[in-house]
Amino acid sequence: MKKININFELNNEGWNLDVEPSDTLLEAVRDKMGVKSPKIACDRGDCGACTVLLDNKAVRSCLILAAEIDGHKITTVEGLCPQEPTPLQKHFARNNAFQCGFCAPGMILAAHELLQNNQKPSREEVQEAISGNLCRCTGYEKIIECMVNPDLKSGEDK
Ligand code: FES
Ligand code: FES
Repeated sequence: MKKININFELNNEGWNLDVEPSDTLLEAVRDKMGVKSPKIACDRGDCGACTVLLDNKAVRSCLILAAEIDGHKITTVEGLCPQEPTPLQKHFARNNAFQCGFCAPGMILAAHELLQNNQKPSREEVQEAISGNLCRCTGYEKIIECMVNPDLKSGEDK
């Protein structure tokens, strides 16, 4: 089948890529660009492990065709702050919000999208924001606490 040529930005770097019409964004990011933080899990939109930001909006990359991202901007956790973890990531780490960490990249991007627009979210708003991101280890409580009290100004907890 004829390949499709796309131009887009991944983590603030311009890319030009030939993709198959059936390639998903998740396959393109992991297999063609070597960025492995979006995880392959359910591969059908149920778990959120493959979450990336598409033009700053959290989406499930297993549900999007790579051909659809022509002209768009994709961000993974690697692109949030390339030199070091963001204050939000440090906050999650200090508060032991994750255990195995499999859900962490997707959860952090869902949190990032919410906190960009709302720095003091309610518990209900947090629950809604991460409702598409499954975590099999933590019971969600520490993740929710971190997002309700993000304390991102100094990057330090009180
Ligand atoms: S792998 Fe995409 S939602 Fe589960
Ligand atoms: S910390 Fe293990 S899946 Fe969330």
